[in-house]
Amino acid sequence: MKIAGSYSLTLRLALVFAVLAFVSLAGLGVALYQELEEQLTRRDDIQLVSRIDQLRTILNDSNTLELIKNKPALFQNMLGTREALLTIGAPGQPPLLVVNPGNLALPSVPAVPVEHVMALNDVQHLPSINGVPFSAVAASIDSGDLGNLQVLIGKLMSERTAMLANYRLSVYGLASLAAIVLALVGCLLVYRGLLPLRRLAKHAHGIGVGNLNERLASAGAPRELQPMIEAFNAMLDRLARGFAQLSQVSTDMAHELRTPINNLLGETQVALQQPRSIDAYQQLLASNVEELERLTRMLDNMLFLARTDPASALSQRQELDAADEMQRIADYFEGLAADVGMCIEARGRGVIWAEPMLLRRALANLCANAIKYGAADSTVQVEAFAEADGSYLRVRNQGATIPAEHLSRLFERFYRVDQSRERSAQSNGLGLSIVATIMQLHHGRYRVSSDNGQTCFELFFPARN
Ligand SMILES: Nc1ncnc2c1ncn2[C@@H]1O[C@H](COP(=O)(O)OP(=O)(O)O)[C@@H](O)[C@H]1O
Ligand SMILES: [Mg+2]
Repeated sequence: MKIAGSYSLTLRLALVFAVLAFVSLAGLGVALYQELEEQLTRRDDIQLVSRIDQLRTILNDSNTLELIKNKPALFQNMLGTREALLTIGAPGQPPLLVVNPGNLALPSVPAVPVEHVMALNDVQHLPSINGVPFSAVAASIDSGDLGNLQVLIGKLMSERTAMLANYRLSVYGLASLAAIVLALVGCLLVYRGLLPLRRLAKHAHGIGVGNLNERLASAGAPRELQPMIEAFNAMLDRLARGFAQLSQVSTDMAHELRTPINNLLGETQVALQQPRSIDAYQQLLASNVEELERLTRMLDNMLFLARTDPASALSQRQELDAADEMQRIADYFEGLAADVGMCIEARGRGVIWAEPMLLRRALANLCANAIKYGAADSTVQVEAFAEADGSYLRVRNQGATIPAEHLSRLFERFYRVDQSRERSAQSNGLGLSIVATIMQLHHGRYRVSSDNGQTCFELFFPARN
């Protein structure tokens, strides 16, 4: 599948490889080329200088000059190539000898005086002809009877030009070839390097709801991919946990809803089988209302558990005065407690770092339980105190000791010690699981202990840091 705006790593790397190979090889080639060109120019210049030196020596002899006049062809042969140019003559007079097979225009080059020893920088590099450099050197010669003569020799550097052109071609050709080869190698490397990624993608494709417990294998994958694999697997862990939780919730819910709905259905069906008295209908409806209220409460609680957003709960934490909170909850439950002859004793010290609504909800659930399950005419103690690491909240009541085997399961969803209370409109076994969820949201702790007719629920809210 092509994703708009995405680019190919392979293509990029291949291009980078190619450009780098070309630039570095061509750069090296150009540097070597310049060096070579310098060397060749020097060699040519040395040749010109030594030739004119030779001419200076032989022309010193008047016999040789006779020879030039009579047999110029000798000199033409001596120069050999079509690119060479030679003139000999007195200044301001027609030349004695001109050898110019290539019909080159005669350059005006200042002559090196007689007493000067020829040097390399006496060679003049003239404007090139059709791209071929033209070098020339001239010297004065003292030729005895013929007086002062001037010799000019020049040469069109065709050989050098051809050689350098060849060299240039090779450099660019080889650099291009290297670029292509490296681009291909780059493609291959990326393709091979990405193989483990493709394997992982294929594996990830196969992971779904049915096999959420499967994990990507990190064996054989390169080290660079390990963090990604770990992160992916950690994500799968979280998803699997969340999914397990969700399926548990829906299973629990279906299970818990079945009983009240069956009751409603059964009772209503029985009532409809024959005409009943108004009283009987009223009784049925009252019982139905009770059942429906229970359902509503249960759904509210389920929704609360499902909807609470951890991030916003944490961000809305406040420093709450423990004494205030304890007093508030005691006031709220005072009436309810008085109905069963109980009283509430509230104490608080320090501050609690918590989201107020959630804290109150947890406390209310614990107090409601204490009143519901506590012994009549006893006292419920609600206390909170702050320590260095956080605040502890305790709700204590007198009543039947909870058997130890139940203690660890009390905070499970829908768990009730006394299943016969199942039909009670007040009990759905969700109160403590809500407390547990609230404590998890706060990164806190919760526990329960029960012995000698005293039950104590303890919550711990970590301090602000
Ligand atoms: N203070 C308490 N004393 C004795 N038993 C308790 C107390 N609080 C909770 N329980 C037991 O734990 C169970 C789960 O409590 P909870 O989750 O609040 O559900 P519910 O109150 O709806 O039954 C209760 O059914 C009860 O058996
Ligand atoms: Mg409860």
